[in-house]
Amino acid sequence: MKSHDVCVVGAGYVGLVTGSCLAEIGHRVVCVDSDPRKLKSLKAGKVPIHEPGLDEVFKRVVKSGKLTFAASVEEGLLYKGRRAEVVFIAVGTPPRHDGSADLSAVEAVAETVAKHMDGYTVIVDKSTVPVETGDWVSKTIQRFNKSGTPYDVVSNPEFLSEGSAVRDFMKPDRVVLGVSSKRAETLMREIYAPLKATILVTDLKSAELIKHASNSFLATKISYINAVSILCEKVGADVGMVAKGMGLDRRIGPMFLNAGIGFGGFCFPKDLEAFHWISKQKGYDFKLLKAVQEINALQLSWVSRKIEEKLWNLEGKTVAVLGLAFKPDTDDMRYAPSLEVVTGLRARGVKIRAFDPVAMERARVLPEFKGVHFAKDEYDAIKGCDALAIVTEWPRFKDLDLRRAKKLMRTAVLLDGRNIFDPEKARALGFDYAGVGRP
Ligand SMILES: NC(=O)c1ccc[n+]([C@@H]2O[C@H](COP(=O)([O-])OP(=O)(O)OC[C@H]3O[C@@H](n4cnc5c(N)ncnc54)[C@H](O)[C@@H]3O)[C@@H](O)[C@H]2O)c1
Repeated sequence: MKSHDVCVVGAGYVGLVTGSCLAEIGHRVVCVDSDPRKLKSLKAGKVPIHEPGLDEVFKRVVKSGKLTFAASVEEGLLYKGRRAEVVFIAVGTPPRHDGSADLSAVEAVAETVAKHMDGYTVIVDKSTVPVETGDWVSKTIQRFNKSGTPYDVVSNPEFLSEGSAVRDFMKPDRVVLGVSSKRAETLMREIYAPLKATILVTDLKSAELIKHASNSFLATKISYINAVSILCEKVGADVGMVAKGMGLDRRIGPMFLNAGIGFGGFCFPKDLEAFHWISKQKGYDFKLLKAVQEINALQLSWVSRKIEEKLWNLEGKTVAVLGLAFKPDTDDMRYAPSLEVVTGLRARGVKIRAFDPVAMERARVLPEFKGVHFAKDEYDAIKGCDALAIVTEWPRFKDLDLRRAKKLMRTAVLLDGRNIFDPEKARALGFDYAGVGRP
């Protein structure tokens, strides 16, 4: 195996996992981040995010010296005399007000790389970006590359999911490489060779589109089953059975067919929006994506709507919200459905007692959670409440002792936003139960 010197710019959920895993498979990696607090934590040997399995890999590669950290791209490009041959751009690409992706951090990194690279360098776009970003990165490098250093731009979108990011990186379904030269392709193949993964080589634009199209397709699948769940509620059918029946068809598959209170997170909402924006920009109004967003927006208000049906007057009543992170096994609160749920309930005068196994530290500082009581555990959250709402399906919530919960509550109303309980059992215990798309 040929090992390489790699610089990863942006040490967030994607960059830190990428850097740690590339070091784990034998490369020498320098992670760069502009956030001094994050850098301080990394240099002190502490992983600043909750991601299962990352801690062990991180500690191993830091100890072996394969993973190091730098405060600037310039330092990362030439770290202790070692020149980075490959630079991964893994900075954030947040949404702008008009729905487009803010690519200013990508541009800033490209400019700095152009000014300081010294010898053939492959600049890899790992951040999720709209089609044609690779061309812009290339143009930017050309403009600031006064010495004419040879380079190539590659699009290598990341498909990992938070909560299983290390496993996803190490055992990917596919590695997509959008390249414009054989030289870059060879180098990138060497980088990923130890994973023994399926590698799909394409042109730059196709690779960029694969990422937006994949995320939008997964979001569409979720909204599709959520729309079906609305119909199920109207006619008294069970969306779980409908999804099971659909998923047994190999052409459809069972994944991403769990009805619930809608999707959130740093990827699906912004990627849908950015994909719609760039499509429109190019002359095609991709209306399907708008419908997916509309269905999701409606679904995010499920808890607020159901609570009105169940509790009559809401002012002054208390609801326990279990689960705040946008999905289980992460502490990421960006665009989490809990933000909508809490905002919706508070607008109706409801008091909230919340609990999440790992995300409370991040939630506590958000304006949406001002005045929310953060509980010690799930039973503490439930104490004295008029209703319990399941917002994130952490595995431990599935083991909740409903008998004990009922005794702690003022009135036994259960809003199962992730369909984790057996409705029959809950009702047999005396709960007024509502699930998503369940009779
Ligand atoms: N989070 C996911 O599950 C996921 C999955 C696949 C793809 N992506 C994409 O990957 C990209 C990064 O996402 P993330 O979740 O890791 O974001 P993040 O916010 O966790 O990490 C981005 C990091 O980049 C740093 N940064 C920003 N500008 C910088 C600069 N100029 N120089 C150095 N560091 C800089 C920030 O300080 C931050 O630590 C996004 O485009 C996202 O859409 C995310």
